[in-house]
Amino acid sequence: MADLSVKLCGAKMKSPLILASGIRSNNAQLLIRAGEEGAGAATSKSCSLQAREGHKNPSAVEYESYMINAIGLSNPGAQTEKEEIEFAVKNAKIPIIASVYENSPENFAKVAKIISEANPAIIELDASCPNIHMEGEMFSSSCKGASEVVKAVKRQVKNIPVSIKLAPNVPNIGEIAKESQRAGADCISAINTIPAMMIDVHARAPVLSNKYGGLSGPAIFPAALRCVNEIRNSCSLPIIGGGGVTSGEDAAAMLMAGATAVSVGTAIWKNPLAFKKINSELSSYMKKMNFEKISDIKMK
Ligand SMILES: Cc1cc2nc3c(=O)[nH]c(=O)nc-3n(C[C@H](O)[C@H](O)[C@H](O)COP(=O)(O)O)c2cc1C
Repeated sequence: MADLSVKLCGAKMKSPLILASGIRSNNAQLLIRAGEEGAGAATSKSCSLQAREGHKNPSAVEYESYMINAIGLSNPGAQTEKEEIEFAVKNAKIPIIASVYENSPENFAKVAKIISEANPAIIELDASCPNIHMEGEMFSSSCKGASEVVKAVKRQVKNIPVSIKLAPNVPNIGEIAKESQRAGADCISAINTIPAMMIDVHARAPVLSNKYGGLSGPAIFPAALRCVNEIRNSCSLPIIGGGGVTSGEDAAAMLMAGATAVSVGTAIWKNPLAFKKINSELSSYMKKMNFEKISDIKMK
């Protein structure tokens, strides 16, 4: 195996692959297992201050080259989640990234503060949920929304790096990343799912109970590469790049686009052993190209 290790916001990772939030990441045991199966770090399911049930089934449906989901951010609430993260941080052999979300900058700061007590390696802000101050717009849809959330969290959380997770459906993701850096973010995560819909023509009805959902998997990979590259061109923070990564060559392309580490979600949903496969393909690619370390993987 080539040397796959990377450093992300001070955390040492044996592989650049990170379990993405929301996929086989709902409790401490799953986060620990991701490490045993080859992930270099694992991100917990996003949690809010209070518990949420989420949407009714069907809430996630798979197709050959994509999946669509509207899970509805179901989670047990910040106090219970803090205990899960604490257990994972103590028992996993990999850094744990804790994902949080809320509906205002103040509540983002509150949930991040509670979760910070579990001492995760990074706190990831899922800023793709509606902003009550801006009539339902996502925080990550604007420089103002993103920077307000980052500033509020950074005022409360001093000792843990903060990454803001950006959505792809904006015209200026690079600008939003740059503004997040100015506001004090330590890292950028991109991308979240792409707004989508599927219709069952036999039932003549939307496939998801929630009607609309988020698209993920191989179909979004080129869109994710572009977003990561735009972010790299406009800000100097480390990037957790992901969206549709399923192979070692996808991971290499994501690193070439400018990512520091690579998140993998849908590929793990479909095959829990995908980390081993992607690590070994990445290692073979590096050997073939005479790359000794991950930082050698660059575009010409
Ligand atoms: C079933 C499912 C649940 C998800 N839940 C969350 C979540 O709670 N928080 C979050 O930030 N992203 C969530 N995501 C988005 C993923 O973390 C990831 O950003 C996205 O799926 C793109 O990567 P992929 O194509 O590798 O899956 C979810 C995705 C899926 C498919």
